[in-house]
Amino acid sequence: MMRVTRCYHFPANHRLHTPLLSDAENAELFGKCNYPFGHGHNYTVEIAVEGPVRAETGQVVDPGALDRLVQSDVVAPMAHANLNCKIPEFGDLVATTENLAVVIEQRLRARWDEVFPEGPALCRIGIRETLNNYISKAVAR
Ligand code: NI
Repeated sequence: MMRVTRCYHFPANHRLHTPLLSDAENAELFGKCNYPFGHGHNYTVEIAVEGPVRAETGQVVDPGALDRLVQSDVVAPMAHANLNCKIPEFGDLVATTENLAVVIEQRLRARWDEVFPEGPALCRIGIRETLNNYISKAVAR
């Protein structure tokens, strides 16, 4: 078994805010990340897959197939977008980096078996939001 990670880059805007708290509580909790008009990040998203090296290709994953899936279902809808407004999943979710990983996992899992019926398995999603902020989410099999 071997793990392969590919990286994707896109800029997006978000605002951290939850309707479960008052405006004052939101401002206290999220600080400048709660500013009404949001702010941008240059996100790097890492998609890690795991499987055997295929004898016929010498590869764990067809990188073109993975790129097409990530481009169509993650990068294209999110790039240069306000995540809170443009991505329906963030209607009910605070647009944190953690929840961005959850949304990306859901989107990839929704089509994974169709695109990769013979594997590899999606195994981890990493997101670098800033130089000081990196999150990693294991994907349950
Ligand atoms: Ni932010």
